[in-house]
Amino acid sequence: MKILAISGGRAGGNNELLLKAALKEAKAITGAEVEVIRMKDIQLHFCSGCETCMRGLTTGGNGDCVYQDDDLGFLKEHILEADGFLVTAPVYDMIPSGAMVNLVNRALGVGKDFQQACRSNPKVGAVISIGGSDWIDFTEPIVNLILCNLSKSAQVVDRLIAGHNTAPGMVGCREDLMERAKLLGRRVGEALLKRERGESFGYEGDEGICPVCHISLLEMTGGSKVRCPYCAATGELAIENGKIRIRWADDIMEHNRFTVWGENDHRGEIGASHKLAAENKDRIREKAKELEDFGGIFIKPER
Ligand SMILES: Cc1cc2nc3c(=O)[nH]c(=O)nc-3n(C[C@H](O)[C@H](O)[C@H](O)COP(=O)(O)O)c2cc1C
Repeated sequence: MKILAISGGRAGGNNELLLKAALKEAKAITGAEVEVIRMKDIQLHFCSGCETCMRGLTTGGNGDCVYQDDDLGFLKEHILEADGFLVTAPVYDMIPSGAMVNLVNRALGVGKDFQQACRSNPKVGAVISIGGSDWIDFTEPIVNLILCNLSKSAQVVDRLIAGHNTAPGMVGCREDLMERAKLLGRRVGEALLKRERGESFGYEGDEGICPVCHISLLEMTGGSKVRCPYCAATGELAIENGKIRIRWADDIMEHNRFTVWGENDHRGEIGASHKLAAENKDRIREKAKELEDFGGIFIKPER
């Protein structure tokens, strides 16, 4: 059994300390082999936006990224082998750190073969993300996305997301957080054992608002309608016994972004957008021509 973690914070920093505490606990329960990849040791191009991967995926190809000369292959190799998969990232400007965001952008081009291999052997997943203050609001959904998009399949069993820890390694004086990290590690370990025995396991972390993904953000989409900004589960606000409640739609478990339905819906959207562009290619070319003489606005540093 293998547990892989990807660490996006400082070496010896807060996220890494909690990650180590969690991994130690998971290893003690399962005897699993444990590996940690630090993002600072990984070289990755930024996604160029060329859409080669998406065009490949929507036209029957494998959808591999055009960049084959960086460490995405190394990451894929290790993710593929893992039974447990943890991601840890510090909060930078209310979202996970840039190296992790770049990584999730590149996850679009991992290729269909990799996606299928991951899905045939779903991993046990968990996330740790620590910030220095209470400016952590958008971290929860994005860190979840990083884990799920990279692994293509991970069943998230726990998430530890907290603020108020700035100095490197200061979580060492936060017994509550250290204990919480150990609990996360135990949950991962126990889920891995259940997975090995062919038993089912599920999410055990904080409830949040959304019953599908447990995110605590909510979008108001008009009138009393609401939507989870992460998984797109829909519902309606209601007042029951003087308290605000959300009446979630009956089909949210099947109709959300992270189901087969959601994936097909998303591919359909992208396909429709490309079709619209193809149908209007002359108009698009004309518009670009119209703006061509306004092209001298781009500047770049001398090299
Ligand atoms: C560029 C930068 C931006 C940051 N932005 C935030 C932020 O928006 N919210 C927050 O809570 N902490 C923020 N922090 C603080 C870090 O999240 C905090 O120091 C964290 O403990 C670092 O984790 P590490 O020790 O694992 O690297 C920021 C730090 C840096 C370097």
